[in-house]
Amino acid sequence: MSISKNHPVPIYYQLEQEIRHRIEMGEWKPGDLLPSERELAERYQISRMTVRQALANLVNDGLLYRERGRGTFVARPKIHKRLSSLTSFTEDMRARGKLAGAEVLQLKLEPASPAVARDLAVPAGQPIVLVERLRLADREPVGIERSHLSFAGCEAIMREDLTGSLYRLLKEKYGIIPTHAEERIEAGLCPAREAQWLGIHRSAPVLLITRVTYSQEGLPFEYVESVYRADRYTLHVSLTTAPGIS
Ligand code: GLP
Repeated sequence: MSISKNHPVPIYYQLEQEIRHRIEMGEWKPGDLLPSERELAERYQISRMTVRQALANLVNDGLLYRERGRGTFVARPKIHKRLSSLTSFTEDMRARGKLAGAEVLQLKLEPASPAVARDLAVPAGQPIVLVERLRLADREPVGIERSHLSFAGCEAIMREDLTGSLYRLLKEKYGIIPTHAEERIEAGLCPAREAQWLGIHRSAPVLLITRVTYSQEGLPFEYVESVYRADRYTLHVSLTTAPGIS
């Protein structure tokens, strides 16, 4: 493919498309080092500034990443999570052909704080289970989930193996079927402690997601705060036109 200077499409955008195409075709693979800015500028007979703009856009889109002093590399595809259905981490990973895992970082009974108590519809101070887990995709840390659990007999969770699917355990052993959830998603900077577990820089971009999950009886049983690596996660929403809008 060549780049046309007389085309109405801006040159940097043509170069972006060219690089995207090479990545999609598998010609440039995750982890490959891209030719330098100078080489790309020479190859396509365009200015280095134009190359820089195209690369910066692709870095922003998560297709490429830079390493200081080493160059620009092809990024691995991120984990896509659809926002329309209530799924567990394990299901999300399975859908992407990845093996889900969990390491328990904290497991304790603690009194519900006023805010958590409100979300879980229990009196403040009531003992609830806190389980914090590092979530792994093909053994790589991608997120941390801090779940506050409250349901009749929830203390028994303290004796369970929580390195597998929590939702499956709740369904199969406790008769709690996650049926509905309210989720809030924010962009944030990774706090120092979480950054260490996730193997990223402190203040690296992350997705902060909170969820209140309801059982088949309409009762909230989980309030969870999650931190996901923004370089490994992308959220996907399908949109349809609202009726009546043309
Ligand atoms: C998602 C949710 C969490 C939930 C988890 C359960 O990631 N955001 O609220 O605790 O799934 O996943 P699993 O069943 O794999 O433990």
